[in-house]
Amino acid sequence: MLRKLSRKLANMPQKEIQENLNNTKELLDSISKYFESLSSINVKPTKSPVPLPKDLPIIPIPFNQILNTIETSIYPNNLHWLHPMFFGYFPASTSWPSIQGSLVSKALSSVAFTTSSCPISTEIEKLVSNWLGQMLNLPNQFIYGKGEGGGLTYGSASEAVLTAMACARLKKNTVNPVAYTSNQSHFSIIKAAKVLGIPIRLIPGDRDNNGNYPLDPKKLVKQIEDDKEKGFTPIFICGCVGTTNVGAIDDLETIGKIAEKEDSWFHIDAAYAGSFAILPELRHILNGVELATTFNMNSSKMLLCGFDCSNMWIKDSSLLTNHLTQNADYMKKSNVIDYKDWQIPLGRNVKGLPLWMVIQQFGVEGIQKYLRNHIEAGKLMEKLVDEDKRLEIIARRSFGLVGFRVKGENELTDGVIQRLAENQEIFLLGSKSDGRSFIRFSPGSNPPDLSNVRKAFEIVKGYLDELTN
Ligand SMILES: Cc1ncc(COP(=O)(O)O)c(C=O)c1O
Repeated sequence: MLRKLSRKLANMPQKEIQENLNNTKELLDSISKYFESLSSINVKPTKSPVPLPKDLPIIPIPFNQILNTIETSIYPNNLHWLHPMFFGYFPASTSWPSIQGSLVSKALSSVAFTTSSCPISTEIEKLVSNWLGQMLNLPNQFIYGKGEGGGLTYGSASEAVLTAMACARLKKNTVNPVAYTSNQSHFSIIKAAKVLGIPIRLIPGDRDNNGNYPLDPKKLVKQIEDDKEKGFTPIFICGCVGTTNVGAIDDLETIGKIAEKEDSWFHIDAAYAGSFAILPELRHILNGVELATTFNMNSSKMLLCGFDCSNMWIKDSSLLTNHLTQNADYMKKSNVIDYKDWQIPLGRNVKGLPLWMVIQQFGVEGIQKYLRNHIEAGKLMEKLVDEDKRLEIIARRSFGLVGFRVKGENELTDGVIQRLAENQEIFLLGSKSDGRSFIRFSPGSNPPDLSNVRKAFEIVKGYLDELTN
């Protein structure tokens, strides 16, 4: 089919089509070799990469030359997110099925803004949103065909929250809107408020026994009362499941009820941790999701889709379409789903394809295994830290994420963090919580190998020995 398509579009002779196919196969081989090489190279970019050729190509460059540039300049000059020694940030786990899905999406080259512009996109989006919704045991209101809502793959959690907050603002149409989120939440929520010109209150979390900082609902209520007295209208409240720094999990049920009472949009940001609700033993982290107006999680982080893939569900799609619908004479009107009315941009590719491929090729069981592996990596790091009397946990393991530090002042922890930054073999970052420095360990994406967790701990321990002797 693709052969016919390319011949028709580019009027390409058979010989050239064959050449392109061969080149693409060679590229796939090269990618496969890159993946295989990861365990034998440093996680950080080489210090002196071969520079990219800078001259503007006036005539076509031979493919083997381009492939050579990819292999000598692009791969080596990458921070290798898929490397077994990558423990900084949350993973951007990718997989062959996801790459295959992206390839198909690129090959279709459809701009999937309306059902008529790309009927298959609507079908795939509905299917993967319902599959994933079923895996997460989401309430019927979020499931196409069962309630008024459904789901859509966005590019990122930032885009999802911006869209949700914009609609919350348009829905309330008040001159004095105000939004709320925990002071642990990701800055994308703060950025959305900033872009939309909405003041946002960062509600402090109370440190619990796990060193976690869930939003304190009492402080939220107090802030809302103060704001209302000053003439503000609460339009948007965000609850977080698995915050970036310490993995805090908010009490969604209580916050959801507060939002309901205030007739405020209730958004849940579960960009990292949402996927873990696929595990029956962890589904409880989403208790209260039935109160959400929108619920978002990134399948790019823990669901093997790689960036960009972020799924958001809305309980009633008219909350988006009432505000985002635009029509034009040059566009065929449709009375079925038009995803241009569910998002701010007009165009989108067939974004659900990577997840569609992943779910089919891993199955729910394969995905659950992957998630449990990630948790095991976190458990091991937590255990190793607990066994070393010089160290303390600052944030107990939340899924895979563990925050730990050297007991006492920040100096030793900072010393370890600085040495880690200089080490080319490991990517592990420091952070701060309540003014205390800590090492933020997040198991990598591919594969979360336990021997590498031990290796990471040995490196940290080695630096600590060096600093204390
Ligand atoms: C908890 C949380 N929310 C939101 C985001 C923003 O994600 P995105 O890059 O998809 O906008 C992140 C990014 O890591 C995150 O950790």
